[in-house]
Amino acid sequence: MITIDGLYKLFDGKDVLRGVSLGVKKGEVIALIGGSGSGKSVLLKHVVGLMKPDRGRVIVDGMDMSTLRGRDLTSLRDRLGFLFQGGALFDSMTVFENVAFPLKEKTKLNDELIRERVFNELENVGLSGSEYKYPSQISGGMVKRAALARALVMDPEIMLFDEPTTGLDPVIGAAILNLIDSCHKRLSFTGIIVTHEVPKVFDIVDRVAMLHEGIIWVDDTPEKLMSSSEPIVRAFVGESANSSIRHQSGNTVVPQRSQGEINEKI
Ligand SMILES: Nc1ncnc2c1ncn2[C@@H]1O[C@H](COP(=O)(O)OP(=O)(O)OP(=O)(O)O)[C@@H](O)[C@H]1O
Ligand SMILES: [Mg+2]
Repeated sequence: MITIDGLYKLFDGKDVLRGVSLGVKKGEVIALIGGSGSGKSVLLKHVVGLMKPDRGRVIVDGMDMSTLRGRDLTSLRDRLGFLFQGGALFDSMTVFENVAFPLKEKTKLNDELIRERVFNELENVGLSGSEYKYPSQISGGMVKRAALARALVMDPEIMLFDEPTTGLDPVIGAAILNLIDSCHKRLSFTGIIVTHEVPKVFDIVDRVAMLHEGIIWVDDTPEKLMSSSEPIVRAFVGESANSSIRHQSGNTVVPQRSQGEINEKI
């Protein structure tokens, strides 16, 4: 569904991406990890066509993102959902209006159908009852969930998540990842999750790609990554690897708060 082939991107003489190649099959969800400034957001922006490669290609469902223009680019973009780093909502709009926005802009659905779709999507992310609140009146986790609902309401075939849990506490961050996982099971989109939540994200992805020094340094299953002895990989999964191994063996670390309490907070 997504093929990135020899992608090269230079900014002010600095080569951020130096020949990135990566493929994501239809229905697959991968994690993209890497240090701050390694180029993860830049890579995602190429997948949605917000940036053009200096060299190489980004093929989405058989179409070359770097050469698509105008209506063709718009119609391909309409099939993608993007949860931006920061996950911002429009501050001057209620949660309902935020989620309804893409439906109003991109579809010819009447108000009643839009209302139904939005209420349904907000229920799916656990935001029933907050429809008419403004972003400033809800918590950071709720803002993320509303942004997720806004991206999902268009039923995208491809979802790109740029650090969906940044700024949230660990328990609520984990709940957001679980929510992404349940949305994937329901909608079976193809996805890339950029995250620093290592190894927590490993539970919900098929593969992990690690961006380092401008290339995909490692592309493997979560299990292989956890047992890797490669020094750069160890530096990433290192200490925290043990907790996920415990998790996989069934001896899950129990969160300090009850699920009800978490639902209320996130
Ligand atoms: N539009 C731009 N113009 C110039 N340089 C840019 C631009 N966008 C990104 N960069 C540079 O590219 C590099 C990679 O940035 P990017 O935002 O992709 O990092 P990242 O891996 O997403 O980091 P983080 O984990 O902190 O979000 C950085 O050095 C950044 O300064
Ligand atoms: Mg980034």
